[in-house]
Amino acid sequence: MAADLLSVQNLSVQVEDKEILKGLNLNVKRGETHVLMGPNGAGKSTLGNTLMGNPLYQVTGGSILLNGEDLLRMAVNERAKAGLYMSFQNPLEVPGISLANFVRNALEQRTGKRIRLWDFRKEIARALEVLQMDPSYADRDLNVGFSGGEKKKAEILQLLMLKPTLAILDETDSGLDVDAVRTVSRGIQEYQKDKESALIIITHSTGILSSLHVDRTHVIVDGTIVCDGDGSLVDEINQNGFARFETKE
Ligand SMILES: Nc1ncnc2c1ncn2[C@@H]1O[C@H](COP(=O)(O)OP(=O)(O)O)[C@@H](O)[C@H]1O
Ligand SMILES: [Mg+2]
Repeated sequence: MAADLLSVQNLSVQVEDKEILKGLNLNVKRGETHVLMGPNGAGKSTLGNTLMGNPLYQVTGGSILLNGEDLLRMAVNERAKAGLYMSFQNPLEVPGISLANFVRNALEQRTGKRIRLWDFRKEIARALEVLQMDPSYADRDLNVGFSGGEKKKAEILQLLMLKPTLAILDETDSGLDVDAVRTVSRGIQEYQKDKESALIIITHSTGILSSLHVDRTHVIVDGTIVCDGDGSLVDEINQNGFARFETKE
């Protein structure tokens, strides 16, 4: 059996002295797509932020291995080099840096190699096409004046260009109209073709999942995973909500 790409064991995390994650376990293998669902405030984004190394999130217990290496000992830029990527719930606007330059820079940082402009332009043009974005977006300042949907598409564009080993998509589908959801799913499907990498999709809604292959679904309530299942768990939650997981004795 292949070793896990990500192994989170008994993880506890505090934010501003408040315990948010309480002994969370999660194992992800290469080639898999996992869905993380749960009510508001359950700790989903906290898990993503902790994996990315955001200093606001203090690990107070447990371990995280990425590809067998101790992630918690890696600096933020080392984590990106190791192939971690997270698309944010609210992508930042970055005046003065074009989308293309931002992506090229990130790629060069990660690989340590210079990338030929001609090859890069060809590849970004293709990614823009998959996401049905006008080619002119490559040279616009990153996210500046982008609509909500365009920002989310720009995050998926980075996913396609950077080809991370483990990608976390945090509510990439929230606030998208039906057409944009379809386009974003197409971009994610493109990424799923790479069987060496894995995906964690954090979502509230199930629209984006209807056309995506899902291997495992996890329900997180109050900082721990309370239920695991296959893709069909998504449909069940879609119908019944989280109520049955939230009943406390
Ligand atoms: N940067 C932060 N500062 C203060 N509290 C935070 C921060 N991030 C998360 N929290 C708190 O942690 C809890 C879990 O938040 P979050 O992980 O964002 O939930 P989810 O993504 O599941 O909706 C919430 O109570 C939230 O207020
Ligand atoms: Mg969140």
